[in-house]
Amino acid sequence: MKKTGLFISFEGIDGAGKSTHIEGLAAAFKAQGRQVTLTREPGGTPLAEKLREMVLHDAMDSLTEALLIFAARRDHLQNVIEPALARGDVVLCDRFTDATFAYQGSGRGFDLRVLQQLETWVQETSHGLRQPDVTVWFELDPAIAAVRLAGARVPDRFEAQPVEFFQKVSDGYAARAHSDAQRFVRLDAAQTREAVWQQLHQNFVQRGWLSTRAT
Ligand code: TMP
Repeated sequence: MKKTGLFISFEGIDGAGKSTHIEGLAAAFKAQGRQVTLTREPGGTPLAEKLREMVLHDAMDSLTEALLIFAARRDHLQNVIEPALARGDVVLCDRFTDATFAYQGSGRGFDLRVLQQLETWVQETSHGLRQPDVTVWFELDPAIAAVRLAGARVPDRFEAQPVEFFQKVSDGYAARAHSDAQRFVRLDAAQTREAVWQQLHQNFVQRGWLSTRAT
């Protein structure tokens, strides 16, 4: 029988609170006997994690930034994501290419056509362009995110950006969600953590991916 993995990505501006929910979903899938690959971008392999450190902390121009992010993605796809999907795993990926369109494209103002070209080169498979089956977007007002982030930790090159940057990033996510509405699940991340979780869990139950018992 053909193995059918599931590829789910999670997106949102910094401070939108996706991490605990990704862990919650990993536990819920495992509790149902599914193998879970929990990973992140940039990162997810030894090489991609090194590239992540550079992208988050070293000064560079926006083309270099985009190239490093896609280089990390290529390594991650080849060594972690594709093998996991071939095994039939549930792949939970904290950010993927929508983040590049939102942060580098909309946030930094980098040429979207170049990003599309890179996306095609890096994500092309024999069955077409590799994209997540579903992308969960934690949508949050950048002003609320800024309050949540204030004083949390030493900010990286993105977290240190002003609210206006995150407004553009948000607009970038909205544009991606609009152009591929079927793939996106939009969650109102301004709600309480419990309410966000219920909404997310319910959505996955409706898809038949999780059983009705909330964890
Ligand atoms: P994280 O803190 O959610 O792990 O994400 C790391 C940072 O990297 C976050 O500020 C967003 C940024 N990022 C990009 O700018 N472009 C990308 O393609 C990805 C995946 C992340």
